[in-house]
Amino acid sequence: MTRKLLGIDVGTGGTRAVLLDDAGRVLGAATAEHAEMASPHLGWAEQDPRDWWRAARLAIKECLAQTNTNGGEIAAIGLSGQMHGLVMLDAAGEVVRPALIWCDQRTEEECRAITERIGANRLIDLVANPALTGFTLPKIWWVRAHEPELWSRVRSVMLPKDYVRFKLTSARATDVADASGTLMFDVINRRWSAEILQASDLPPEILPEVFESPEITGRVSKDGAAASGLREGTPVVAGGGDQAAGAVGMGIVEPGNVSATIGTSGVVFAATSSPVVEPKGRIHTFCHAIPGRWHVMGVTQGAGLSLRWFRDQFGGGSSYDALMKEAAAAPAGADGLLWAPYLMGERTPHLDPNARGALVGLTAQHTRAHVIRAILEGVAFSLRDTFTIFHELGVPVKSIRLGGGGARSSLWQQIQADVYGTPVDLIEAEEGAAYGAALLAGVGAGVWQSVDAACTTAVHVAKRVKPITKNVDLMNRRYEEYRKLYPALRGIGHRQ
Ligand code: XUL
Repeated sequence: MTRKLLGIDVGTGGTRAVLLDDAGRVLGAATAEHAEMASPHLGWAEQDPRDWWRAARLAIKECLAQTNTNGGEIAAIGLSGQMHGLVMLDAAGEVVRPALIWCDQRTEEECRAITERIGANRLIDLVANPALTGFTLPKIWWVRAHEPELWSRVRSVMLPKDYVRFKLTSARATDVADASGTLMFDVINRRWSAEILQASDLPPEILPEVFESPEITGRVSKDGAAASGLREGTPVVAGGGDQAAGAVGMGIVEPGNVSATIGTSGVVFAATSSPVVEPKGRIHTFCHAIPGRWHVMGVTQGAGLSLRWFRDQFGGGSSYDALMKEAAAAPAGADGLLWAPYLMGERTPHLDPNARGALVGLTAQHTRAHVIRAILEGVAFSLRDTFTIFHELGVPVKSIRLGGGGARSSLWQQIQADVYGTPVDLIEAEEGAAYGAALLAGVGAGVWQSVDAACTTAVHVAKRVKPITKNVDLMNRRYEEYRKLYPALRGIGHRQ
């Protein structure tokens, strides 16, 4: 009998369930949208964990129905999800307040206070990363300082996908890759940092138990089964934060393998065999979803978001496809127009929640096509900043695989090849993080011996896009101009 594997990715826009057979082939997939994220103040971003659970149940049921699968055929389930979010539960396991999610930027003050209390260098020693506004610990500090009565009811905190795990299995558990983005995790030794918890006056019991990604964290409970259509007792593996799980799904497992993924945010991700720590913390050093391996990644906050913003505000009802077709009519380099994609502040390389977006170099000759092209190029320049840091650190880049919505457009594929100045590969089943989570489930269920073996069987390159030589020269020059934008614009526009 085929042993089917289910991967669930609790994303920002929706939750996706993907079902695989035991050769890693996709049998079916379903996505349920989330409610709009709430932004009660500029820079805040909140979602209700109960909405994720609603969407997860829908996506699971739809995926099972679509593939004519009965819950009993599923050998194991893997979870993945948006990273860094803060879910807060009371003693009865009820949600205390909406979660503060990854792109929430309210914690500048708390980041300063944490860095002061622990020391910038000591923080890097303990958790391999600096205090960044999106990370989980500063969010805890914020809720505790600003909503003390709510905080007094909190008995456990967890990451977004782990709330879905909690509802499915009643286990409070997480994985090393997702835990790495909390600022409470000793990334080098793959365990919670007792020193950070102590310095933050947090009891260790407030945190979930940590597992390696392919390990089984619990089984679907009676209630979880009734709510989802899955079978009671089905094992659920730890899985991974969406970046690490997505990387597994793209076969980014060994040093030299690198991915560039453009979703809402944009991420350049490299697997490493030991933790590579960037002294300024401009890229993140996290555990990989593979035991004994780590990864580094740089993050552009407003990657796909830049294009979505343009479509929603100025697209006049055009679809992404139509916008891409339009942009293809503008020449490479967009006749001098440049886009700084800092719509949600920026992580790599600026680490500045107050960075602001800009369209620079406009003339009356520019058309909407130039603007769209400049946005696509600006996002690729921003991702190139991470390659520049990898180069400085000696992180090897042997091949680049593209992922996310940005990998689906042939124009954005070509722009990325030209901007990175190297061929880029597209893989066959680009199913994102849910696919990687399902592969991890397969390792946990013994379908494959290791994550490497799972990727060798399941992940194949479908197409290679080569850079166009004359565009590479042009893009190198444009990139030098792009690098001048942030220092020139810094401080303009973010004070009201
Ligand atoms: C990674 C990150 C985002 C979120 C959104 O550090 O913040 O990729 O996980 O999905």
